[in-house]
Amino acid sequence: MSPKSKILIIAGSDSSGGAGIQADIKTVTALGSYAMTSITAVTIQNTTGVKSIVSINPREISSQIEFTSKDIRPDAIKIGMLHSSKVIKSVIHSLNIINVKKIILDPVMIAKGGARLIDEKAIDLLKNKLIKKVSLITPNIPEAEILTNTKIKTKEDMIFAASLLISMGAKNVFIKGGHLHSKNVYDIFVNKKEIDIIKNRRITTSNTHGTGCTLSSAITTFFSCGKTLKKSCELATKYVNQSIRSNLNYGKGHGPINHLSSSFIEKKFR
Ligand SMILES: Nc1ncnc2c1ncn2[C@@H]1O[C@H](COP(=O)(O)OP(=O)(O)OP(=O)(O)O)[C@@H](O)[C@H]1O
Ligand SMILES: [Mg+2]
Repeated sequence: MSPKSKILIIAGSDSSGGAGIQADIKTVTALGSYAMTSITAVTIQNTTGVKSIVSINPREISSQIEFTSKDIRPDAIKIGMLHSSKVIKSVIHSLNIINVKKIILDPVMIAKGGARLIDEKAIDLLKNKLIKKVSLITPNIPEAEILTNTKIKTKEDMIFAASLLISMGAKNVFIKGGHLHSKNVYDIFVNKKEIDIIKNRRITTSNTHGTGCTLSSAITTFFSCGKTLKKSCELATKYVNQSIRSNLNYGKGHGPINHLSSSFIEKKFR
């Protein structure tokens, strides 16, 4: 089988393999596309926590993006954690140079434990510059709260926050509901014309490391292959749900999901 599309991933490395660029590459590959990378940071972590983080110089991040894309043109780009305003500025500069239209931004700001990962200046740049440049943003609940300055407790609050993000210039918004304490998980897709509420039963497990990275990479893969953004979000949610369900139980902490659960998608949705 030949890959169906080519994707550039701009994100950090997770040495444990469950999240970050490792989860992104596994997702893109499992769903049948070709993955290229620009690594923004190297994190030393396992399922019990992060030991340390080494940032890559913004110039090298840009260089990876531009030199790689000049040779093999990506059909779509997935952006994960950009940890500082300097990194965001470099990435925006490189995106302007390579001029790829399909871009999915996972605006990673908060670690699973609740700690803020990026500073105020970086958040301002994300809000005022980057979200307008991309096709879709995929904040989780705490990230959507920070971006919109609202409190989110219900799916109605999620829809309201998503519509605020649209009024701030985002073209399409997908707010992930993993962090709400409800029996079902609701993910909300919103643009100027549509609202799509995706409902799934919450799976009881501590092994959800990398669900967010996996989801945005899966959306990017489906979108790069010509599906609409709404359909891509629906298919990606199914892929993540299946991957959580197929519980690997690796490690002593928050373990990874199973990226090889994609035969389900392969059979039913392609
Ligand atoms: N326990 C669960 N059961 C079913 N689906 C879940 C569960 N937890 C998360 N999801 C799904 O996983 C996807 C990612 O959502 P989540 O809110 O966990 O993102 P995130 O906080 O960005 O993840 P990460 O911590 O990896 O960055 C969503 O589609 C969400 O519905
Ligand atoms: Mg996340």
